[in-house]
Amino acid sequence: MEMLDLSGKVHDEQRQGEAFSPTSSIEKTYQKHFYIESYGCAMNFSDSEVVASILQANGFGPTSQFEEADLVLVNTCSIREKAEQTIRKRLTEFRKAKESKKGMLVGVLGCMAERLKAKLLEEEKLVDLVVGPDAYRSLPLLIEEASTGQKAVNVLLSRDETYADIAPIRLDSNGVSAFVSIMRGCNNMCSFCVVPFTRGRERSRDAHSILAESIDLFEKGYKEITLLGQNVDSYYWVDEVNGITITFAALLEKIALISPLLRVRFSTSHPKDITDEVIHTIAKYQNICNYIHLPVQSGNNRILQLMNRTYTREWYLAKVKRIREFIPDCGISTDIIAGFCSETEAEHQETISIMNESVFDYGYMYFYSERPGTLAERRYTDDVPEDVKKRRLQEIVDTQYQLSLKSNQNDVGKTYRILIDGESKKDTNFWKGRNDQNKVAVFPKADLDLQMGNYVDVQIHSCTKGTLLGTAVPGTKH
Ligand code: SAH
Ligand code: SF4
Ligand code: F3S
Repeated sequence: MEMLDLSGKVHDEQRQGEAFSPTSSIEKTYQKHFYIESYGCAMNFSDSEVVASILQANGFGPTSQFEEADLVLVNTCSIREKAEQTIRKRLTEFRKAKESKKGMLVGVLGCMAERLKAKLLEEEKLVDLVVGPDAYRSLPLLIEEASTGQKAVNVLLSRDETYADIAPIRLDSNGVSAFVSIMRGCNNMCSFCVVPFTRGRERSRDAHSILAESIDLFEKGYKEITLLGQNVDSYYWVDEVNGITITFAALLEKIALISPLLRVRFSTSHPKDITDEVIHTIAKYQNICNYIHLPVQSGNNRILQLMNRTYTREWYLAKVKRIREFIPDCGISTDIIAGFCSETEAEHQETISIMNESVFDYGYMYFYSERPGTLAERRYTDDVPEDVKKRRLQEIVDTQYQLSLKSNQNDVGKTYRILIDGESKKDTNFWKGRNDQNKVAVFPKADLDLQMGNYVDVQIHSCTKGTLLGTAVPGTKH
């Protein structure tokens, strides 16, 4: 198993090939249609919404059936080898579809496009277009080139592209929650990570455009916004008109002030960068959710140093303590990598112990996958045998299961305000939503006249490790 999500929710990591279902009214207005499938992190899903906007402005309407599409796009992820393998398989299927539909173009977008560049066109002949994450504005031109049989590649990375002026088209939206990208790229050089190579240098998006997009979402009925960046705490934007500098804490505050009925979330925080100012801002505003995703990766100082994470075990634990001091009920989740280069059994045990000491509510856990071109690939040997990596991962997963279950059991008897974002998949007589701490709660619809996007108080009566089960309190809808 490559990745386990204990929370049972869609989180912002490694979603697998999701297409979207447009409304039929959009479809009929266009002569040409595109189909897009997205993999990887929330930023990729958010980018697909920018791509949809660019395509629609150029005469392409969306379709949810790839067989009907004139243009099939796959927005790809390179974070682990397994992710790339899955996408390659899918591309082979699209190539087959292409054989039976004359004129169909297949394009690769995103991180794999950036990593493999023209190789996908030349050596493997899998696709017609290859477009990197900073080159989506050139899509219309590239489509034209590809349709005349030319090689259409643009994988140039940019120092300033943020697509700030493009209004994303919300794909497959529940109308309640939306992602808003606040920055792109990453300047950290975690030795295991391919992102700095596929996404380029870090840059922050114009705060005015972030605010305008968020206000627009709220006016359209959205109730929850998740601000996205690989390292949101290093958000930094200077308003040159009045010389004001906007930090992440200031941005959070601006978004929170749009309305107390708009929930604000964000991801991802780097333990070295999250500031007291941010922690205080979360504590100050009721509508900034008490939930922080704070990837630890390892609990051992030697491994953390090899990973180039630039913090120690002690620093990390002090951050967790500080968060809990100011936001006592804060949900904290993490990412962990098992079996990084040269990790010993004792070092692995330190990862288990930091999990227990931090009492994580959820975890996203992976075994190490060497990525070409990264610092770790060039400097260290990927020497932990696969069976050892998998066994260590299982121990980490088992530890998190216990912590998640305990965390949910602690909530039994409490009442939480839930934002309804859908029906329970298992039983449509139940609503599903999340609490402030990002935990999923389900409860019977009963006869309470509730709908998607409503807030309601739910008293929790039982739980599993992934879900809280409860009953809505009558008269608490708003
Ligand atoms: N920017 C985020 C993480 C982005 S990648 C951060 O800094 O935390 C999401 C997660 O994938 C990482 O936190 C890490 O746990 C995992 N990951 C990244 N590269 C990996 C690799 N080569 N092998 C296994 N897991 C990896
Ligand atoms: Fe990768 Fe590290 Fe940047 Fe996260 S902070 S995207 S793990 S390099
Ligand atoms: Fe994957 Fe690229 Fe995101 S590598 S995790 S899609 S930034």
